[in-house]
Amino acid sequence: MTNLAPKFVDYSGSRFSGKHTHGDHSLDLWEPMVMPKEAIDAEIERLASLPKPDNGVRRSRFVHPRSVNEKAQSWAPGVDVSLDVLLPGERTRAVRQNSSVVNFCIQGGGSILQNGKTTHYKQYDLVTTPSMWVHEYVNDTSEIQVRLRYSNGALLERLNIHYVDEAPPPHGSSVDDLTVTAAEEGEWHHSRFGAFQITDDGAWLMPYEGLVNPPPAKIVSKHWPWEKVRNELDRYAQGLGQDYEGRRLYLLYDPVTGRSNGTTTNFFATITNRPAGISDRPHRHASAAMNYYFAGEGHSVVQGKTYPWRAGDFMFSAPGWAIHAHTADKGPVYELTIQDMPFCINTDCLLWQEDMKGPISLLGSHAGFLTNRDQLAKAS
Ligand SMILES: [Fe+2]
Repeated sequence: MTNLAPKFVDYSGSRFSGKHTHGDHSLDLWEPMVMPKEAIDAEIERLASLPKPDNGVRRSRFVHPRSVNEKAQSWAPGVDVSLDVLLPGERTRAVRQNSSVVNFCIQGGGSILQNGKTTHYKQYDLVTTPSMWVHEYVNDTSEIQVRLRYSNGALLERLNIHYVDEAPPPHGSSVDDLTVTAAEEGEWHHSRFGAFQITDDGAWLMPYEGLVNPPPAKIVSKHWPWEKVRNELDRYAQGLGQDYEGRRLYLLYDPVTGRSNGTTTNFFATITNRPAGISDRPHRHASAAMNYYFAGEGHSVVQGKTYPWRAGDFMFSAPGWAIHAHTADKGPVYELTIQDMPFCINTDCLLWQEDMKGPISLLGSHAGFLTNRDQLAKAS
């Protein structure tokens, strides 16, 4: 330890971080970036050619140049994404960590063993791994398996709290299999161990027993098979028509995330079917967005700059609060979008502007936005 001393920094007269002068607040966005399919294919080949690592993990993180010299090497400030490869017959060693994961299989297939339960997946299936679940990836097929793995580990690394346990307890033995009696649940949800209200406008006090025993949510892994998602999405998207102003997507929703609209407690995953010629209206949101395109081609305009893309490309498509719009030039475009929207809703910071001439709303606390879907339905 070096001799460090705390200090004061004068923020008087300014509400912005130290490097900005008074009233001159500019966003310091990590610029959008496309990792092209060719680079991804070459990296898959390189990972496949390595001697098998001890823990079985053949993994490369997508790293934004803005994060290269930091402890958390990531694709967006709070989101790390990796390209994971498993050869036929390989499996990774068991691990658990306090970040949660969205797995999206982009090539081949296989299975994941999580807390003793096996989930088989194929190309474009999505499987979640909750925080602190013991898990092992398996390639029980004859083809190379490739996954995109999204996690909030980068955020936890920036907070110095990312816990990764490479010698976890046996499957199913950890607290995530906790069963709660009805009496305990009643206690949790109603009295909160003697918590009580002290002011008329709703300020409460809670003793320590409530503090260290919050009501547990039953967060379990979920699997969205592409075949089922695609059937629903195609039917839905075709019914929307050319004049629909919303996004032609389905959120892969886990109801345990409630009002935060999550696939995990940190991320939503949506899959969009974007017909050729369809453009979004320019819009922005505090959540950061990244798109993996797996059919079609098109372009995005982000903060006034154009970025072309096509199937197999991976894009940091919308840094938080960047104005952006995506257009399909050859369709249909299928894209997986991951955003840290649930994290933003749970921390009550999700500013959203659906139309650049319209209002900014704090989604989750203030009124949200409508589309013209009902009007179109009435007119037809
Ligand atoms: Fe967006």
